[in-house]
Amino acid sequence: MTHKQKQLIQKLIDTRSLTTEEYTQLIQAQDTKMRAYLAGIARKIADQVYGKTVFIRGLIEISNICKNDCLYCGIRAGNKDCMRYRLTPDEILTCIHEGYRLGFRTFVMQGGEDAWFTDAILCDLLKTIKKQYPDCAVTLSLGERGEESYRNLRMAGADRYLLRHETADKPHYQQLHPKEMSFDTRMDCLQSLKQLGYQVGCGFMVQSPYQTAEHIAKDLKFIETFQPDMCGIGPFIPHKDTPFYNQMAGTLEMTCFLLSIVRIIHPYVLLPATTALGSIDAQGREKGVLSGANVVMPNLSPANVRDKYMLYNNKLSSGPEAAQNLQELKQRMAAIGYEVVVARGDVKR
Ligand code: 5AD
Repeated sequence: MTHKQKQLIQKLIDTRSLTTEEYTQLIQAQDTKMRAYLAGIARKIADQVYGKTVFIRGLIEISNICKNDCLYCGIRAGNKDCMRYRLTPDEILTCIHEGYRLGFRTFVMQGGEDAWFTDAILCDLLKTIKKQYPDCAVTLSLGERGEESYRNLRMAGADRYLLRHETADKPHYQQLHPKEMSFDTRMDCLQSLKQLGYQVGCGFMVQSPYQTAEHIAKDLKFIETFQPDMCGIGPFIPHKDTPFYNQMAGTLEMTCFLLSIVRIIHPYVLLPATTALGSIDAQGREKGVLSGANVVMPNLSPANVRDKYMLYNNKLSSGPEAAQNLQELKQRMAAIGYEVVVARGDVKR
């Protein structure tokens, strides 16, 4: 590393902040050595805050019906080759029952923007879950809804909400989304969620089409200022039935590098080694954890729908990605010195 680069990294560690220009320089200058160095620092910080533990979340993909037409996403409304499904509240409760037995204490209900899931239906479901499993946290990841809806869901018991910002650059946001969708709405949603007292997760795809180093620098700056409780960062992976079918996938190296930076600028963040990272590399989750991640989200959806929630090509839902194979995940984490814990795994602030 050059003297200049070492200075930048020292500033990053000491102040947990760089200017967007400096982030851009760092991103452009990264090499194997720098990545390994930052991963070591990031991992040490995560160990200090959360210990040598990994939190697990049971991910239930409740519906792949979506009104949006995001250009990157395999379950976009325009994909006529996607076999649609929707779980009933009873099916969701069965997943949770199974997950609880397996040792999950956080359940993430994720889905497309499916109007069938009204506030009334979701609030009923949330109340039932919270009554049956008072020791569990419930995370929602159901896209953009109105502030009133977010309030209702929060009052019915939702603890956390994941809504990736996707990119912190407005023109880039427009390049990834149809014109009906707006960057400002996305940002407003994130602010509302925070104000309502959710633990909030934002996040972005790594090396999505048209993404530049400057865009990523803006994402890092956004994370620095928004201070999310969770942050989902995974490589973009093309899906064959989307306009981005022939675009390149993001890399393991760049994703791990960014996980490390996010851990350094935001020590308390709950940072998953994402399914997308596991999908591009057989050791992706392990490498993510060793770069500063401290969460994994195995799939708890019913087996017959798992291959239908296909956001991108070859999305993993078997092996250690399946909640039923928690034993394999535990062994994999133990092999790198980490223990999977049975806990809600709330953010430390
Ligand atoms: N590659 C990687 N991640 C994707 N997502 C959607 N489509 C893709 C893709 N092709 C991510 C988005 C979304 C989350 C649920 O999945 O960031 O917010």
